[in-house]
Amino acid sequence: MRLLKAAVVEECAASRLAIELRQAVLAKLLGYGPASMLAVTAARTSAEDPLSGFELGEHPDPDPPEGWEVVRVCAASLNHHDLWTLRGVGIDPDRLPIVLGCDAAGTTEDGREVIVHAVVSTPGAAEDETLAPDFSILSERYDGTHAELVAVPQRNLLDKPPSLSFPEAACLPTAWLTAYRMLFTKGELRPGRTVLIQGAGGGVATAAILLGRAAGLRVWVTSRDPAKGERAVELGAHAAYEAGERLPERVDCVLETVGEATWRHSLRSVRNGGTIVVAGATSGFDPPAELQHVFFRQLRLVGSTMGTRSELADLVGMVDATGVRPLLDSTLPLSEARDAYARLAGGETFGKVVLSTDGDGG
Ligand SMILES: NC(=O)c1ccc[n+]([C@@H]2O[C@H](COP(=O)([O-])OP(=O)(O)OC[C@H]3O[C@@H](n4cnc5c(N)ncnc54)[C@H](OP(=O)(O)O)[C@@H]3O)[C@@H](O)[C@H]2O)c1
Repeated sequence: MRLLKAAVVEECAASRLAIELRQAVLAKLLGYGPASMLAVTAARTSAEDPLSGFELGEHPDPDPPEGWEVVRVCAASLNHHDLWTLRGVGIDPDRLPIVLGCDAAGTTEDGREVIVHAVVSTPGAAEDETLAPDFSILSERYDGTHAELVAVPQRNLLDKPPSLSFPEAACLPTAWLTAYRMLFTKGELRPGRTVLIQGAGGGVATAAILLGRAAGLRVWVTSRDPAKGERAVELGAHAAYEAGERLPERVDCVLETVGEATWRHSLRSVRNGGTIVVAGATSGFDPPAELQHVFFRQLRLVGSTMGTRSELADLVGMVDATGVRPLLDSTLPLSEARDAYARLAGGETFGKVVLSTDGDGG
């Protein structure tokens, strides 16, 4: 009897859901009722099982405040940041559910093709907006880009050059901008210098390989996976080494986004007086500091986060002028976002995973 009751309750819930869904679709078709869009949200967070808080479904359309504009998203890339949010790192639980995604390229209502700068802060709060007290990245305080629509401040819109496809353009605002700032602003690298990039396969790492090579650097990489090392060399790296392997000589600068798993190697691989630029710690935040290397060999440890609108404009100019293009690991329709997230979480990617809203993944 109890079983029968449970089955009836389940059936009722299912048919109620079906009716609600039909009503929502009908309302949308007839143009009344709250407008909604398809979006990926972090509904909950879990340090152990980040994808358990992932939800793909209807979400209210953005309601832009004064000075903001709605962009119809054509393509939006994934970043490790999206997984950190689902793990509960860097997100205030009161903001949930929040639309995930930092990066987008799309069109405005008047048909302008744009790239969306992901950094939001009060205009004029700091000369470098990444240092502003109210600095945030889309999907931290404001809804992000893994949706059909996103609202952003008008000053965050940059023209997309016709030479870049929407999926390519959607890779620039976070991973590519971070790599650009690490190499050229914080790392102060110039043509002819040697850079070591830890963790070859990542979004930031593949961007740094391509940008570093285009800028005349000698580019060395490490990877946990020899096959990824080989792919990095095909991409343009001069040499690939196994994680932790002794290098033929010390380098001018190390780009560190892996953290605990590579920190020891980074300290030993940089030349005396060289620079380690740190923008992430995928494998853990607390490696032994080994301060003796820092003071005795006079190393510069420099933190780096995202970049300014003006650096993004320079990056867009650089890719347009050089012909360097973001490496796409895969492009999936927004409706298959769960597979895209699982791929990134599995650590199997090489290059950027992109979501497309035009249905054909292009
Ligand atoms: N500060 C900022 O503004 C900023 C901006 C962008 C990204 N980040 C941070 O930078 C990191 C990389 O971001 P991403 O988007 O490029 O991530 P991603 O595409 O997921 O790449 C992560 C890479 O880390 C490498 N890795 C090496 N050892 C690892 C280990 N033990 N565990 C896990 N990964 C390991 C992997 O390279 P191999 O498989 O080749 O070893 C992997 O491809 C993240 O922590 C992210 O939060 C920070």
